[in-house]
Amino acid sequence: MRYILLFLIFSLTACSATVDGANSVKIIAHRGDSSYAPEHTLAAYELAKEQGADYIELDLGMTKDGQLIAIHDDTVDRTTNGHGRVNSFSLLEIKKLDAGSWFNEKFPDKAKESYSGMKILTIEEVINKYGSSINYYIEIKKPNEYPGMIDELLRVLKSHKLISYGGTRGKVIIESFNSDSLKYIHNKYPNILLIQLGNFSTKEQLLEIAAYADGVGPSFSKMTKELVEEAHKKGLIVHCWTIDQQDDLKKLLEWDVDGVFTNNVRVAKKVIMGVNNL
Ligand code: G3P
Ligand code: CA
Repeated sequence: MRYILLFLIFSLTACSATVDGANSVKIIAHRGDSSYAPEHTLAAYELAKEQGADYIELDLGMTKDGQLIAIHDDTVDRTTNGHGRVNSFSLLEIKKLDAGSWFNEKFPDKAKESYSGMKILTIEEVINKYGSSINYYIEIKKPNEYPGMIDELLRVLKSHKLISYGGTRGKVIIESFNSDSLKYIHNKYPNILLIQLGNFSTKEQLLEIAAYADGVGPSFSKMTKELVEEAHKKGLIVHCWTIDQQDDLKKLLEWDVDGVFTNNVRVAKKVIMGVNNL
C-alpha cells in the first residue's frame, strides 16, 4: 500500500510539472517571433506572446540622447529605411524610421501591409505595453559603445517593479557576452537571473561563470551533450541559440537543455509539446 501511495504521489508530481510547464524547456522568442514579423517590432512581440513563448528577447541599443531601444545591430541599415549608427540618432530621429518595410521586401510570402511603417520601440514602451504579463530576456550588447546603458536598464526595470533587490527571480533574464556587465549586475542585484553568452567548454570556465551567473548561452553550432552535462554539474542552466529546425530542437531536448532561442515559436512549441507528450 505504501509503495502504491508513493507511486501515485510521484505520478501526480510528474504530471503537474508537465501540465503547468514548470519543468519544461523555456522557449525564448529571439527578437520576438521574428520569422513571421519584423524583428523587435510590436508585431513580432505580439506574435511571440500569442504563440505562448516563455520569454521575449530584446537586444539593447541606446540613442545618442540616452534612450534604451530594442534593436540588434549597431546600425539601423538592415532593419529600417535609414542609414547610420544607432548612437548617432536621437530618439526623435530614430522614431521617424520605418522598421517594418524591409521585412515585407525580404519576405514577400510573409509580408503584411500593417508591418510597413512600424516603429523602433523604446524599452519603456515595451514594458508599458506588457508590464508583468510577459517575461523579458534582455541582451546587453556593446556596453562599451553605450556608456551608462546598464545603469539605465536597471533604473527602468526597477521603476517598473520588474526587478528589486531580493525580489522574485525569472521575470527578467539578462544575457550578455560581456562578463564584466554581468558581474556588475550580479553585485547590484544578485536576484536577477543572468546568462553568460558564449561558447565555453572547460570545467574551469564553467566554474568561473557559476560564481556570478545562473547559466550559459552557447551557440547551437558549438553545442555538445557533454557541455550540457558539465554545466548542469556546476549548477548552471543552458539556453542555446538560435534554433528553428525541428531536428535540431529535438536533439537539444534529448541533451536536456533548459531553454532555446528561436525565431519560430510555433515550431519550438510543437516540438517541445510533442516530446513532453510522449
Ligand atoms: O542572445 C542570444 C543570441 O541572440 C546572440 O546572438 O546576435 O542574435 O544577438 P544575436
Ligand atoms: Ca540577442
